[in-house]
Amino acid sequence: MSKLALYAGSFDPFTFGHLDVLEQALQVFERVCVTVAVNSGKTFVFTPQERCALIREATAHLKGVEVSFFEGLLVNHAAQIGANALIRGIRQMSDFDYEFRMAIANRRLSPQIATVVFIPNPIHLVTSSSLVREIWHWGGDISMYVPQVVLEALQKKSK
Ligand code: PNS
Repeated sequence: MSKLALYAGSFDPFTFGHLDVLEQALQVFERVCVTVAVNSGKTFVFTPQERCALIREATAHLKGVEVSFFEGLLVNHAAQIGANALIRGIRQMSDFDYEFRMAIANRRLSPQIATVVFIPNPIHLVTSSSLVREIWHWGGDISMYVPQVVLEALQKKSK
């Protein structure tokens, strides 16, 4: 088993739920590369560079974390950096269908790369980036959902 795993996502923004999944992955893998997926077809609050910078700051206390961004197929990026595991988090059954289909598609594209799923701590089970964006958009308190650096960055962003 490779000691390097790839944890990809949109991370717009990076939440305590993401942090929890990353911390669990670091108990299993020596190094985890958190990679921000660039999707030019979607509108994001933060640019890929901003998201990477925020993840770097929010994970500075953890050993074994690398941060990058990529465009294209995830399995190609994993092969490029020498990772043979993909990390995903599943919070509830409604996530399962999408994650299951993605894991199967990735496995068919690249059978040697495994998908490893972690279930976040129960306090993060309803945390999602979209929920954070919605509460932030309407001026609500998001401090229980995101690390301090992300909170400050969102406070500086215009809606
Ligand atoms: O945080 P998200 O938006 O749920 O992350 C989804 C992501 C970025 C991991 C997924 O869309 C992805 O891997 N995109 C790259 C294209 C790809 O490889 N798709 C998987 C094969 S269907």
